[in-house]
Amino acid sequence: MTLAIETSCDDTACAVLDGAGRILASEVSSQLSHQAYGGIVPEIASREHLQNWPPISDAVLSKADVDWKDIDVVAATQGPGLIGSLLVGLSLGKALAYALRVPFKAVHHLEGHLYSPFLSVEGGPHLELPHSFVGLVVSGGHTCLYDVSGPRVTTLAQTRDDAMGESFDKIGKRIGLPFPGGPHVDTLADALEGLPKKRFKVPLCGDSLDFSYSGLKTRTLKEIEHLERAGECVEIGDLPRGAAPMPLIEVLASFRAAAVAQLLDRLDRLYRLDPFEHLAISGGAAANRLLRRRAPEWARSHGVELHLVAPELSSDNAAMIAFAALLHHRRGESDDPRDAEAFSRLGLGEAGSPL
Ligand code: KG4
Ligand code: ZN
Repeated sequence: MTLAIETSCDDTACAVLDGAGRILASEVSSQLSHQAYGGIVPEIASREHLQNWPPISDAVLSKADVDWKDIDVVAATQGPGLIGSLLVGLSLGKALAYALRVPFKAVHHLEGHLYSPFLSVEGGPHLELPHSFVGLVVSGGHTCLYDVSGPRVTTLAQTRDDAMGESFDKIGKRIGLPFPGGPHVDTLADALEGLPKKRFKVPLCGDSLDFSYSGLKTRTLKEIEHLERAGECVEIGDLPRGAAPMPLIEVLASFRAAAVAQLLDRLDRLYRLDPFEHLAISGGAAANRLLRRRAPEWARSHGVELHLVAPELSSDNAAMIAFAALLHHRRGESDDPRDAEAFSRLGLGEAGSPL
């Protein structure tokens, strides 16, 4: 039984997995206080994690029908993320492991996302992991491409500026949507039937596999400004659902199309350089509906087996942290709960560097 804690940002999450990787319970408590500020306030996040922990851990243990004494491994997210938030979860995890006298594993947040497509949301054991696969993690803080070969994870590419989810959130904020705006921008873009008339250029980073979302975001913000100057309503936060004006929806759909096309362009390039058989897509922005329609088409046309994270496990959760910890535990890897540190910046597969 692995109990994991995930507090890298504003969600307080706890989960219990059994030895076969079945999710026995997984709860996420989202902090709503940040909405008034249009973004995460780190100090509020840390304090709320402390308040959320007792009810959420009680709920998870009772749902999983296990007791503290049944827990064999404790895991917690070590980084990257907000340092205050990470410290709350990591300290809780270390203290629990120490008190329960069980192994402790500090887990990289992106490693959690990376393997999450192999978890079952129907209560079954985890799916078999291919020996090697390409992992695409698209979230609010990261847009990364990895090569995973057995236990070795190599970073192939990352964003040079904004992450994909972050660019969606910034567009959402501009038009008055509640934070995070990503899912709402996606829903609004879906209101357009057919292809957007205006095609935004797919951002390129020379011949590199790297991503870039800042230029596309600026282009989109300029288009929104243009609409505003022309007298169109672009503050849709106050409008009733479904009442967004069509010119704005056109812009959002063009933005989304280019954002998703960039991901597929990099997969194309990587495939041409070094064909692969398995692709795992994960992270909060993997809930994007256009991506969920395009990725299977792309995989089919390239003969690649796609492992797309379940929408329920795409955003931050502790089941994915428990799963990464379980994989480490099977390899006999653990961390000393007296030494493990939290890192706001932490490369995957690299040693942590202090703040
Ligand atoms: O993985 P996650 O929960 O947190 C991070 O590790 O960042 O990802 C959250 C991000 C937010 O930026 C959110 O707007 C974005 O995922 N997101 C979406 C969608 N659903 C969530 N972005 C685009 N389309 C969506 N449907
Ligand atoms: Zn995440």
